[in-house]
Amino acid sequence: MIKEISEIRDEALQKIAQADDAQTLKEIKSNYLGRKGRLTQILKGVGSLSPEDKPIVGKLANEVKIAIDNVLKNAEKNILEKKDIITHGIDITLPGRRLSAGHVHPITRISREISRIFSRLGFQVEEGPEVELDFYNFEALNIPKEHPARDMQDTFYISDNIVLRTHTSPIQIRTMEKQKPPLKIIAPGKTYRCDSDVTHTPMFHQVEGLMVDKDITFGDLKGILTLFIHQMFYPEVKLRFRPSFFPFTEPSAEVDMACVMCKGKGCRVCSNTGWLEILGCGLVDPEVFKAVDYDPEEYTGFAFGMGIERIAMLKYGIDDLRLFYDNDIRFLSQF
Ligand code: PHE
Repeated sequence: MIKEISEIRDEALQKIAQADDAQTLKEIKSNYLGRKGRLTQILKGVGSLSPEDKPIVGKLANEVKIAIDNVLKNAEKNILEKKDIITHGIDITLPGRRLSAGHVHPITRISREISRIFSRLGFQVEEGPEVELDFYNFEALNIPKEHPARDMQDTFYISDNIVLRTHTSPIQIRTMEKQKPPLKIIAPGKTYRCDSDVTHTPMFHQVEGLMVDKDITFGDLKGILTLFIHQMFYPEVKLRFRPSFFPFTEPSAEVDMACVMCKGKGCRVCSNTGWLEILGCGLVDPEVFKAVDYDPEEYTGFAFGMGIERIAMLKYGIDDLRLFYDNDIRFLSQF
């Protein structure tokens, strides 16, 4: 009986493979699995077998039944599809499946736009390492160890001497070490601070600017930054330079721009002041020049630094910093 079941299986599968229309498949089905089909007969006879043979033969016959049934169903499907193409043809006017294109991340876009504006003013784009020596991140920028100014920045320490850079300012030092003035650089990159809440992420982006030459004045700094902000946002947007402090610039200032949302009238975004702080800047402190062997009697310069996320939020009207890092396609595909 076991031999017979195997023969039935081989025979049926062979016939199915050769069949090329639905009618033939139907006949095959009835011949083997129909009410009077060969396999059905065998299954009916299982009941009268000896108790030892019953489970073995029954199991095999059932497995073969399922196998034939599956192969039949597949063959039926193939024949139907074939028929469809023959009778209806292939519709070549159907649109193809589109691959969705990637987008440049808004942070990258803004960073490139800032670099582009400064490139047109003759600034060179510079880069530096994200894992930085204490010397470049602090010491050479006039922030000695134990200096209270280190408290301004929550630093990730890799070791006593190595940090994740807390700002892009170390690129100033690295550039001045390898180039003599005059120089004009713009340096975008990732920065890190041990801080995480609704308005802070442990990794964020900054752009640094530095210009050094003979007779650079605060007027040059004001002129360049005004031109930049007018190109980045809109012409004639009002600015104000507020006195501030950074260890590596003297004098130092923070620049505010009339609120882009309410145009200076006062709203939630500018906490009703009408102003938005957008960057820090100043004239390079002579101590910084000394650290890189520039003669502070001969050269002067200015530096500035700004947060790219902040510029992007103001420019695109984004009110939640976390949107930049959630990687939600619905947000990202708008840019
Ligand atoms: N590095 C400063 C900061 O991260 C910004 C800055 C850069 C200020 C250059 C002045 C000059 O806050």
